[in-house]
Formats: sequence, structure tokens, C-alpha cells
Amino acid sequence: MNARPEQLTAPTRLDAYRAPAWRVETVELDFELAIDSTEVTARLHLRRDPALPLPLRLDGENLELLSIALDGATLPPDMFRYTDNVLEVDGARDGSVLETRVRLRPATNTALEGLYLSGSAEAGFLLTQCEAEGFRHITFFPDRPDVQARYTVTLRADRDRFPVLLAGGNPDGAGVLDDGRHWARFVDPHPKPSYLFAVVAGRLQSIERDYVTADGRAVTLKIWSEADVIDRCDYAMDALERSMRWDEQTYGRNYDLDVFHVVATHDFNMGAMENKGLNIFNAKYLLADPDSSTDDEYRHVESVIAHEYFHNWSGNRVTCRDWFQLSLKEGLTVFREQSFAADMNSASLKRIEDVSLLRRAQFPEDAGPLAHPVRPAQYSEINNFYTATVYEKGAELVRMLAGCLGREGFRRGMDLYFARNDGHAATLEDFLGALGEANHTDLTPYLAWYGQAGTPRLQARGKYDAAAHTYALTLHQHTPATSGQPQKHALPIPVKLALFDGAGQMMILHMDGQTAKPQTECVVVLEADEQTFVFHDVPTAPVPSLLRGFSAPVILDCDYDATELALLLRHDPDGFNRWEASQQLATLAYVELRDGGASHALEAWLDALSALFAHNDIEPALLANLLTPPGEVEWAEREASVDPARIHALRQQLQRHLAERIGADALHQCYLVLAAEASLSLDAASQARRRLKQRVLELLCLADADTAQPLAATQYSSAPGMTDRLGALTVLLRSAAAQAPAALAHYRQRYDDNALALDKWFMAQAQVPGETALDRVSTLQRDASFTLKNPNRVQSLLGAFVRANPSGFHRADGAGYRFLAGQLVQLDALNPQVAARLATAFNGWQRLEPGRREAARTVIDGLADRDGLSRNLREIVANVRK
Ligand code: ARG
Ligand code: ZN
Repeated sequence: MNARPEQLTAPTRLDAYRAPAWRVETVELDFELAIDSTEVTARLHLRRDPALPLPLRLDGENLELLSIALDGATLPPDMFRYTDNVLEVDGARDGSVLETRVRLRPATNTALEGLYLSGSAEAGFLLTQCEAEGFRHITFFPDRPDVQARYTVTLRADRDRFPVLLAGGNPDGAGVLDDGRHWARFVDPHPKPSYLFAVVAGRLQSIERDYVTADGRAVTLKIWSEADVIDRCDYAMDALERSMRWDEQTYGRNYDLDVFHVVATHDFNMGAMENKGLNIFNAKYLLADPDSSTDDEYRHVESVIAHEYFHNWSGNRVTCRDWFQLSLKEGLTVFREQSFAADMNSASLKRIEDVSLLRRAQFPEDAGPLAHPVRPAQYSEINNFYTATVYEKGAELVRMLAGCLGREGFRRGMDLYFARNDGHAATLEDFLGALGEANHTDLTPYLAWYGQAGTPRLQARGKYDAAAHTYALTLHQHTPATSGQPQKHALPIPVKLALFDGAGQMMILHMDGQTAKPQTECVVVLEADEQTFVFHDVPTAPVPSLLRGFSAPVILDCDYDATELALLLRHDPDGFNRWEASQQLATLAYVELRDGGASHALEAWLDALSALFAHNDIEPALLANLLTPPGEVEWAEREASVDPARIHALRQQLQRHLAERIGADALHQCYLVLAAEASLSLDAASQARRRLKQRVLELLCLADADTAQPLAATQYSSAPGMTDRLGALTVLLRSAAAQAPAALAHYRQRYDDNALALDKWFMAQAQVPGETALDRVSTLQRDASFTLKNPNRVQSLLGAFVRANPSGFHRADGAGYRFLAGQLVQLDALNPQVAARLATAFNGWQRLEPGRREAARTVIDGLADRDGLSRNLREIVANVRK
């Protein structure tokens, strides 16, 4: 069951925002819960804005209206109309109470929006997902975030089938009813927008912890899951407690209810959801145990737990006026989550991870037909705008602002933002206004970043004057046109920089007109198309290290040569910048390989890395990152005519050179040392060594597969935990080792009843590069364990194939595109949100080499011409085609 508006609905526009004419002060919701049919009674206490004499109009989708009454009297049919997902009611006035009763069908709700069933009808449980516009699938309501109401929710259900009844807010009574039924009531004292509403009902187990907030509130923390996985929730509980403490210490933010519930489900469209007092998580981001979770997954659980918890202030207490402001809560909360993870683990490793993700996911989005500003100007389906741009680029913008203000200034600004907007639905202007005002500075120039799509290109040219001892750095910016935005404007771009001398020492910086005490690092802000910054008393020609810490989300084009990059790679004291130098050097080496000819960069890269490897005095996780060149998706972004198979081959060649330069013996020795200490412990040092071990095994496999494959097979069978097991399986699969089939079969059997572990079995196979990947994926798609109904399974097979396997998906004959289109049509009939997200894999097709481009065009045109696609998928297909 899902909404299928056949006509193209007019897009919603930011500049058409109007304050609501009607508000809801309080709402009482009664649920008579059952799997096949649930009845919802809603009593809305309405307030009318006297200045806006508009009729009462409420949102409602796919609702079976059973009864309707206004101020206690049943409404005659001529007093209301329910058409086109809007209920219009005559006769309501300020202070009126509207009561509606509707029937829902949770068991057939495959879109997983509104009230739906997780798991089977016999054993599963009921839950809700309302962001962005799911509440209108539950009852009639002004379903917009600037309408904030106080909720009282009463749940009634069969006691055996639904022993646990949960809703957001504080518990306010429970009891037994006749006929084996029971009830529970929850009252949320904090007014909230409808997208933060949630209920959960079914057979669930819980773990519990007492927590006292810094301001003295006793809170019960509860994590709920189905019985078979409850023993995998402890890590999330620890992470939750760490998150709560961190937000108290870092932002002075305390939790504000007596209970905090977290629920895990295997059926969820997104990562997780910050419903007030009742967070709901995709099990993938909540469950963790060494036998089925990798180190990366542990870190994701910690980050997502923190992210949803932090929303309680950045999103719930201060929410968004409208969905165009989505990044107000998401960009800010991703930034807060990133800072938390940096504090918990290694700051430079976290930065490397975040910038890699930005380049892999957001830069391509910003460079193709799906490009949109962090604050879009219009949308047809808001669920299509939960994007890397709104989230990850949004977080980079907050980071820039935080950088401008400094740690204390940013905290001052955040305090003012929270104080001033608490309980309100805010805009990005409110955010920048508060940050600026608290610091007596005007941040409005940064608003332009929120309205302009596309990644700025930053060009840097340095000129050293040996006679005058000056160094002039000229910065120039240019943002390529994006669809619908042909004209771009100069943005304020903060460039953090340092200058290195030939021995790899940072120089003291003396800048024009600068009186602050001399430092080795400074920030210059490019505010126009082009500006020159002059440094004095520069004794020798410097090597500039620019955009340190990735101080702005731009693409840097600098006239570094290989020797200069190698110097930074060897000497930069900052882990992130070292890694950045290695990435740029690897990219120069890639270009040399691609074009044939000179190999200065390649030699410099190989020399620098083999020396670092031999010296072995560098942090293992950083070394693993240095030994990893940029991914195929990143390199595709630099090409005018993309041939994914060729990029894959070149990247393999580059890595083989590296493996051979380091030497099979040295790799083998290093592997044996690291393998000898295989352990399960999760501390940063153990994780780092596992990561390096994996990288070394991969390289060894390129230099000497005969040595590496038996090592991988042994690692697979003796692995103490999932990181080592999956790592070994991946190496066996990608090198087509003779041992691979047995390992695959073993894994399949061992994890047959563990959905999240089985997802990785699908994923590992979907990601094996090359032309044969499609055959493998098609076979797996017919596997008894594969289903289009489960979003995690879809992501693990189809998502992994189309997004993380460019040489496989972009098969030269276009068969990958035809396969995807076929899957999309089937998926769209079940779950439009997931289908639309998968369809973004077509992004960038215009830059493919001519053969693939034509194949993709035919498939995309075919999809666009189909009748009956959901609004979600239709919008993506239409946009990607531009
Ligand atoms: N607000 C959630 C988060 O923490 C994401 C929910 C997105 N839901 C959706 N249907 N688009 O990021
Ligand atoms: Zn979020």
C-alpha cells in the first residue's frame, strides 16, 4: 500500500512559505492496535490565527475515515471534504476540538512510512516512522514542523500479542482491560512537531540503565529489541551514556524527560530516527557484538547513537520551520556527531573518514544533475532531500562557521541559538544570526553557501620573491554552473595554511597588516573571485600546505609538484594533512599512469610510502590510510569521459606498484607480526592494527597472491571476530582464490539466522569488481534469502553493487543499467523511498564514455516514460535525466 499520485504534483517552494493559519495546542491520540487493522482516534485542540482567515485544512494520506466530529457533534457530510490528501472542515473556530477516527492497515504497509509492521505478522511488532511527512499516514493533522503540539497518547492492545506498549514522552499510567487487553498512556510535556511522534508495540525485551543528568534529573535509559538480539545492545547503551555526558560537557545540554527509549528494528528505510523520547534505530546502527560486527560497524553504532541523541536539542527542542531548513538540524547534528567521535577516538582519523565520505558521496552529487543547495529552493518529494549535500556538506558549513568563531565563540553562539529558539521552529537565518550576534560579528556572507549548489574550485598559485623575501599566494575561486543555477557567486572560503621550508619545518608566518603574535599556521579568507595574500620575511622558497584540516568544502587545485607533496607527506605533523598530501600525490601518479610518459609523481609516491612503511614509526591506522589511494569514484570525478573499467585497472596497477616497491617479503613479515597479536579488544590501538593488517594483506595479495591467499584462508577460519573474518573473505573473493567458495559457504551457514551478518555476505560478493559482477548479483538476487521488502538487504546487494562497484555496475554493454531499472520498477511498487535512493546511482551518467552513456540514456529514458512510478522515483529519474 503506498500513495500513487499519478499526476505530477507542483513542487513545494521555499519562497512560498506561509505561517500556518491553524495550530494545534494539544492532541490526544488513542490507538486500538492490531496487526491487520488499527484504529486511531485523534482529538485536536485547535487555535486559529485571527490574521489568517483561512479554512481548516489537514493533511491525511491513505486514511480510511470512520467518523468525524467538531466540538462534540458529528459533522454532517456537507461540512467536510477529503480529497487529494487534504481534509477540509467547515465551521471550525479558534478553540474548537476536532475529533477524527481512522483505520490503518499496518500489515500491508510496505513503504515503511507511517504505522507499519516489522517482521512477520505472527512474531513481528508495530512501529512508526513519521519524518518527514509520515504522520499524515496515521491521522489528519497539519503535518508541518512549524505546528508544535503537546501530545497525550493512549495505546490499547491485546496483552499477549503486544506486551510492550511505548510512545514518546513520560509514562502516565497503564493497566489491564477486559478480553485480555491492556493499555498504557504517555504524556509529552514538550510541544513537538508531528514528525517526532512515535509509537512501538509488540513483544520486545529491554536492557536498562539509570542515568542522572548534570542538572540532576534521574532518567531511565532503555534499549529495546526482539529477544534474539537483546544481548547485542550493550555497546549501544555505553555509547548512549557517553553521548549524554559529552553533550552536557561540550554544549551544556541536558536530557529533559524521565525516560529515554531506544528501539531496534530490522525494517527501516534510513539509519535511525530521533523521535522525542523514543528513538528508533535500524538494527544495523544499534546492534554490535564482536562475532557479527566489524570495527567500522562499532564506530557507526557509536556515531548514530550520538547523532540521534544530539537531535534532542539540535532538532527537537529547536526544530525546523519548514523542510527547506532540514540542514539546520541535520548539518548541525552531523557536525556535533563528528566532533563527539573525534573526541572519543582519533581526531585526524575521523577527519580523514569524513572527508573521504564527502568526496565519495557529496562531490559527485554536487557535480551532477542531482546537484542542489544545502538549502534547496524547491522539491517535489522531501524524502529525496535527505542527501549527502544536506547532511555532509551541511556539516562542513557548520564546521566553517565554528572555525571562524573559535571554540569559545562557537559555544557562546550555540548557547544563544538554543536559548533564543528553544521551543521554536527556526531557520538558517536564526542560526547564523545567533552565532554572529553572540560574537559581535556578521556571518551573513556565509548564508550564500546554503543557497548555492556545486563544489567551488579553488585555485592556488604561489610566487616567491627571493630578493624581497616575500611569498605571494594568489587564490582564485570558480564554481561550475549547476542545473537551474547558471550564475555562481564568490563565497567566503576560509583557507587554513602553513608554509614549510625545504627541511620540512613549518615557518613563522608574517602577513600584511597582521599584528597578532606570530604563528606557524593561519587562516586567510578568500572573499572575492580572486585575492592575493602576501607573507613577509620568508627566508627561502616555501612549500605551502593549504586547506589544512580541510578548512572548506572545495576542490583545491594547486601547482604543487611531486617533490613538494612528498615533502608534506613525510613531514607534516598533522595526520590529516599528511594523508591529504598522499592522496594528491597518488592522484598525480594516477594521471601519469593514465597518460603514459613521465613517472615523477609515481616514483615520489612509491619512495615516500615505502620509506614510511620501512621506518614503521607511524600510527598504524594512519599508515593504513596513507597506503590507500583515493577510490575509483573520486578519480572518476576528474575525468571528462569516464571509463570505470579503465579507472579500476589503473588503480589496481598503481597499488601493485606500491606492493612491489614495499616488497612481498616486507609485507609478509609485517602481516605475520600483526597477525600474531590477533585479539578481540575494541580499543583504538587494536582496531588500528587490525586495519593495517587488512591493508597489508590486500597489498600482499597484489604482489604475491600465492603467499597471501593461504594466509587469508587461515585468517578466515581462525578469526576471533568479524573484522578479521570479513576482511579475509573479501581478500579471497577479490583475488578469486581457490579457497573462496568454501569460505563463502561456511559463512553462509554460520550466519544463516543473523540478518546483519548475512547482509555482509551479500555485500562482499556484490562488491567484487569486474564484468562478471552482474552475473553474480543476478544469481544472488534469486537467492532464497534475498527480498526487496527489506531495505537493508536491498542496500547490501543492490546498493553495494550500483554504488560501490563501479567497474561491475557500469558494464560496457549496459546490462548493469538494465538490471537496475528492472529492480527499481519492482522495488518502487513496494517502497518508493528506497527505490528513489537506489536510482541516484544513475547520477553522473552524462560524463560516461559514449558507449556507456548511450546505454544509460536509453534505460533512463525508458524509466522516465513509464506510467505509475511513485512521486519519489519519478522526481529522481526526471532530475537525473537533465
Ligand atoms: N532524522 C533522521 C536522522 O537522524 C533521518 C530520517 C529520515 N527519514 C526519511 N524518511 N527521509 O538523520
Ligand atoms: Zn539526523
